[in-house]
Amino acid sequence: MVCGGRPLYGETRIQGSKNAALPILAATVLVKGKTRLYRCPKILDIIYMLHILREIGCTVFWEDEDVLVIDAADCDGYEIAEQYAGKMRSSIILLGSVLGRNGRVQVPYPGGCIIGKRPIDMHIAALQTMNVHIETHEKTLSAQTSGLTGATLDLALPSVGTTENIILAAVTARGRTRINGAAREPEIAALCDYLNHAGARITGAGTETIEINGVRRLQQTTYEIPADRIVAGTYSLATVATRGSTILYDAPIHQMDAFIKIIQSMGARVSRIRHADRIGLVIDAEQAVHAVEYLETKEYPGFPTDLQSQLMTVLTTADGTSRILETIFEERYKIVGELQKMGAHITIQDREAVIESVPRLQGTTLQASELRGGAALVIAGLMAQQTTIVENAHFIKRGHEDIVKDLKELSASIKYL
Ligand code: UD1
Repeated sequence: MVCGGRPLYGETRIQGSKNAALPILAATVLVKGKTRLYRCPKILDIIYMLHILREIGCTVFWEDEDVLVIDAADCDGYEIAEQYAGKMRSSIILLGSVLGRNGRVQVPYPGGCIIGKRPIDMHIAALQTMNVHIETHEKTLSAQTSGLTGATLDLALPSVGTTENIILAAVTARGRTRINGAAREPEIAALCDYLNHAGARITGAGTETIEINGVRRLQQTTYEIPADRIVAGTYSLATVATRGSTILYDAPIHQMDAFIKIIQSMGARVSRIRHADRIGLVIDAEQAVHAVEYLETKEYPGFPTDLQSQLMTVLTTADGTSRILETIFEERYKIVGELQKMGAHITIQDREAVIESVPRLQGTTLQASELRGGAALVIAGLMAQQTTIVENAHFIKRGHEDIVKDLKELSASIKYL
């Protein structure tokens, strides 16, 4: 329940990145020993992933509040149960890592946010080129290899998950793998950084061409998960939405260029502050009132699709008309109906949304239907004059440790019902 209509102010700290932590957790099964992870976010998707790791033989525990230990010494399972994997799309990256560890794997078709068709054809084709035999059944996919072998793979699209799966399969494969047209997201660079810490030989992460020279084994290591650029972007937009002024400590500012340019174009003043050994992103949004004439979501380093719903929400009351073209996921306009209930003027034609300004949103009861859209509805609640209730908040918990606590720190009036 959110009581909106007042500017956010104050400071909070940004949690570890979901999209970096998930593939790194999948990668830990390649290490025949312990991985210690700092700043692993305590979110639902991670909890599901930890259940899966336990099921295939890993020992998993929190050493203290902030250190997660995964001991994969006895990881000999290969069947990923539907119970957790069916809930999140990232279970698909276990294909590459469990194949690398145990030579075979069985996974249910992945679940996750309903934001488009989200096929896995590229994952399958890439692994087949690396000497993997794949059989598809009604509900599961089983894969087996007599030995992973390196290959040159040309990706038709820079798919994040496919790039990660290939890397995970290639790390301990025989020979060299080259990925042309790889995704350049910072989370891929983080995965490769972790693997290289453990003894992998990967170059080119963060560019379109990644090369992996297979190694015989990986060693135990310690790694710090980077902060979450999407959560930082979401709270920046909550600040812009309320014309507030906040500091977001640990926000990965260097990964947020395209996003920061957009909120600056809306009138927000953005700077950084150093406090002791921490750096904060400072958002001063008192003058952030302008529409965004035209924006396309793009692969990194472009404007992320994962911040599109939150931006659209803020634009409902900006001065002027905004246009957004969603180029990554075709069904990412699910919140439009909910925003319309609040009085927003949005029309959708194919993949383009036209957002015409209204003076204010009216609070009402809304339904979240996926993670980022759910966070966007909370932002809508912060903008509205009256009370807004966002139902199905469990979707938001898939990616936010505690959105209520964080926004309270930024002086929002918000609580769980
Ligand atoms: C990842 C992120 C997600 C983000 C997305 C795009 C994680 C856990 N999730 O998702 O938050 O929104 O990147 O930045 O990191 N595609 C195919 N065939 C395939 C695979 C993908 O056609 O086999 C298409 C998808 O339908 C989509 C596009 O490629 O249109 C991009 O998808 P991809 O980059 O793979 O996204 P995910 O890895 O699922």
